[in-house]
Amino acid sequence: MKNTRTFLSIAVISFLFILFFNTEIRSQENTAHKTIEQKIDSILPLLTLEEKVAMCHAQSKFSTKGVERLGIPEIWMADGPHGVRAEISWDDWAYAGWTNDYITAFPALTCLAATFNPEISGKYGFSLGEEARYRKKDVLLGPGVNIYRTPLNGRNFEYMGEDPFLASTLVVPYIHGVQKNGVAACVKHFALNNQEHWRDIINVEVSDRALYEIYLPAFKAAVHDGGAWAIMGAYNKFRGQYCCHNELLLNKILKTDWNFDGVVISDWSGAHTTMESALYGLDMEMGTGTDGLGTTTDSYYDNYYLANPFLEILKKGEIPESVVDDKVRRILRLMFRTNMNNNKPLGKMNTKDHQEVARKVATEGIVLLKNKDGFFPIKDDKDLTIAVIGENATRSMTAGGGSSELKPKFEISPLEGIRARFKNATILHAMGYETGPSVYAQVLAPTLDLDSLKVNAIETAKKADIVLFVGGLNKSHLQDCEGDDRQQFGLPFGQEELLNEIYKVNKNIGFILLTGNAVEMPWLDKVNGLMETWYLGSMAGHAIADVISGDVNPSGKLPFTFPAKLNDNAAHYFGESSYPGDGINQYYKEDILVGYRWHDTKKIKPLFAFGYGLSYTTFNFTDVKADKKTYTNNDNIVISCKVDNVGNMNGSEVVQVYIGKSKSKVKRALKELKGFQKVFVDSGKNKTVQIDIPVSSLAFYDESISDWNLEKGEYICYIGNAADNISKKIKISIK
Ligand code: BGC
Repeated sequence: MKNTRTFLSIAVISFLFILFFNTEIRSQENTAHKTIEQKIDSILPLLTLEEKVAMCHAQSKFSTKGVERLGIPEIWMADGPHGVRAEISWDDWAYAGWTNDYITAFPALTCLAATFNPEISGKYGFSLGEEARYRKKDVLLGPGVNIYRTPLNGRNFEYMGEDPFLASTLVVPYIHGVQKNGVAACVKHFALNNQEHWRDIINVEVSDRALYEIYLPAFKAAVHDGGAWAIMGAYNKFRGQYCCHNELLLNKILKTDWNFDGVVISDWSGAHTTMESALYGLDMEMGTGTDGLGTTTDSYYDNYYLANPFLEILKKGEIPESVVDDKVRRILRLMFRTNMNNNKPLGKMNTKDHQEVARKVATEGIVLLKNKDGFFPIKDDKDLTIAVIGENATRSMTAGGGSSELKPKFEISPLEGIRARFKNATILHAMGYETGPSVYAQVLAPTLDLDSLKVNAIETAKKADIVLFVGGLNKSHLQDCEGDDRQQFGLPFGQEELLNEIYKVNKNIGFILLTGNAVEMPWLDKVNGLMETWYLGSMAGHAIADVISGDVNPSGKLPFTFPAKLNDNAAHYFGESSYPGDGINQYYKEDILVGYRWHDTKKIKPLFAFGYGLSYTTFNFTDVKADKKTYTNNDNIVISCKVDNVGNMNGSEVVQVYIGKSKSKVKRALKELKGFQKVFVDSGKNKTVQIDIPVSSLAFYDESISDWNLEKGEYICYIGNAADNISKKIKISIK
């Protein structure tokens, strides 16, 4: 009895303490917040109109002006999503030639998405934020969360795949991680920049339903749950208005409906008129010239739409001063969170921790697509000869690609990684083919003799027990690169022919595919093993060797569908008016049926489905159940599932829960991802996972009421480890 009383008193005291402590923290946060707003209130009247306007546009390629006389600093920004870009010259795109801007290159965001691991996304964001802070950057121009609509989009590698729920779940911890360092994440490209071809001119027409259900959720999560301090407008138009000053996207949805209190930054030269920039939500204009993507002209910055022309209309009273005050308030708020935050950390660069995070993300994101007769893992045996063939075995994948290009302190190539890990086996190498260097907006010819490269590769393959073909795309123009799209769905640079020739002399082939996109695979039968290894950054080679050797059991899952042929993809199915458009407009005719939603609903078998990825061990899902049969609006659906590792190796599996509405008054996808969890299970053991899904997340966007609508009735939960591999279906009902 006495013990119970003591226990109760301790419990009550602890509860009161926690309550007091939490309230105290909250009130401190409120005070800190108020102080910032009060400080801004006191700064604004001190600024001249000229000073305010000067804060709203670039003063160099990657910085904006402060107000020196008041001690308000400049803002410095850097690309990008996968690492902090090298210093660029003040007034042109050339590299500044610094020697202290070598960084850690992290894996591309497709790889991060393939980890299906929000925790590691937080570590990624934090490490990257530390590097940005160390480099004295206040704004990091990333992450990118445009939705994967077509496999031809040159920039898919910078984004998080085709599913809004997956991208939303992973973007939030990334942003938290970056911003803990006093560095603003600038989420891009808002919105509908889903292709590079004609990105500066194309007008996207899409239904409200697809806009809200597919293209906006990751941005909304970034703002609402991630608390992003900045967002970048996209180049393209939406419903006839450029996205960098789009009344609906920026004023209504972002700033009014979502209460975004940060800064809207234009994509570089994405602003096109002064009045619209002033009135329709843009806060800061960045770029190259005033003529919309024009070329560099010294000191052009004063002529930006949000520079002298803006000042002029303010002075003439054509727009009220409150317009510029709101922009400056947002900019100052961003500054108090970043460069004027006295408690910000100092940051770190190229630490062992950062390299470990890069390697962990890379190994967790690699997706094993095919493994006939246990081709992988490969044992490091002294009697084994491995021929590593393909340009991608040695080519830098941090060079090129556009604004996400990096200058890493080092980049371990696949060949180096394999050589370092396979010390006993004999490793032979042949390039097989060569392509020119990756230069922005240009395709440069190769310099070596292609026939000799091919002959040498075939000779090399003949001598080996195993061929590892390291191919795919690269970061050159018209491949996985900003500025334009791919022009073919198949492998480029004659790789298919080379593979066919190699197959004639050696049938034991494993393909290590380096891409940020799906590719067509008419050659799939000719390879015994296939791994999608993305662009992995500094630790690429080590990570690839980790998985090839079996030091790490693969657990990555595809964040987008691999269609068997291009027309199986929804955007392409509807022809040119859907992709790429006619140069003026394009219509997203597939509407909400993007990616696996299309394949499932139309029963088009993909080559590899969304969520798919093999392991070296075998998992079984048993005891799959929902906690109830009937739910109401505010409930959570709790799905539990026992994951048995019945194979010989420890490993991780991703339990995926999709939900669909069988009879609906509106068009629906067969099923949509609503929850997932990655779980590590030792060989011979099992773990039970529990996935909570708010019933509210089953609502569809109802155009007739311009709001979300939760239909009552029967739903089906599909639990599996890929969109096309469902172990159990459970009927539930919403009352
Ligand atoms: C890209 C942005 C990038 C900016 C600055 C633009 O061309 O679209 O993503 O942040 O350049 O490099």
